[in-house]
Amino acid sequence: MIEGEAWLSSRPRPLLLCRPTNLPVPEVTLNDVEIRTIDARSDHSDIAKLLMNVWIDEEPYRCLEDPEAALQAQIQRSLEDPGLGVIAYGEQGVCAAVLVPSTAVPALMWLTVRRDARQRWLATALLRAVVETLSAHGTNELATAVSATNLPSLRWHLTRGFQLAPDPLKEA
Ligand SMILES: CC(C)(COP(=O)(O)OP(=O)(O)OC[C@H]1O[C@@H](n2cnc3c(N)ncnc32)[C@H](O)[C@@H]1OP(=O)(O)O)[C@@H](O)C(=O)NCCC(=O)NCCS
Repeated sequence: MIEGEAWLSSRPRPLLLCRPTNLPVPEVTLNDVEIRTIDARSDHSDIAKLLMNVWIDEEPYRCLEDPEAALQAQIQRSLEDPGLGVIAYGEQGVCAAVLVPSTAVPALMWLTVRRDARQRWLATALLRAVVETLSAHGTNELATAVSATNLPSLRWHLTRGFQLAPDPLKEA
């Protein structure tokens, strides 16, 4: 018996997580990659391409009828006001990116590493750059939303200091 509200959805539910910004992130030495904040104008199309190539095959987009149109619209909207954006830039262009829009509690959005560049600590390096900048601006907490079915991402967040928020199912 259920008391209250219940609904079934084909979309995996995002879980809210957060971490203190003063929790250390390991320093990463990457000789062939530059980690830098984005230039919204000149990096726009490289970032959009990376996000489109990766997320078209990821949940929740891959379950949609027209993932390309939905993604294109959301990526464009996010890049119009990216807030604090950090990218990893290598020989073949942008290989990883994250955006942190200027919301009351800053949150990681679109954390994305190109498939052939994974497991090289790039996401960790982006996280380090983000928390250093937020800390320097007096921000104590960083949030994120991870689909409950995205186990590699969930594992990555939990091993990098994120914990489930007190109300993890609250709408992001
Ligand atoms: C989740 C994601 C961002 C992780 O990116 P990543 O750059 O591969 O992550 P990192 O390299 O920082 O860490 C990944 C793992 O590789 C390991 N690793 C890093 N370099 C390594 C190396 N040279 N050899 C072996 N393992 C290595 C790390 O220890 C870490 O291990 P863990 O799984 O025990 O935590 C990436 O898989 C991705 O873009 N996924 C698709 C989009 C997505 O789901 N984004 C998250 C949105 S919520």
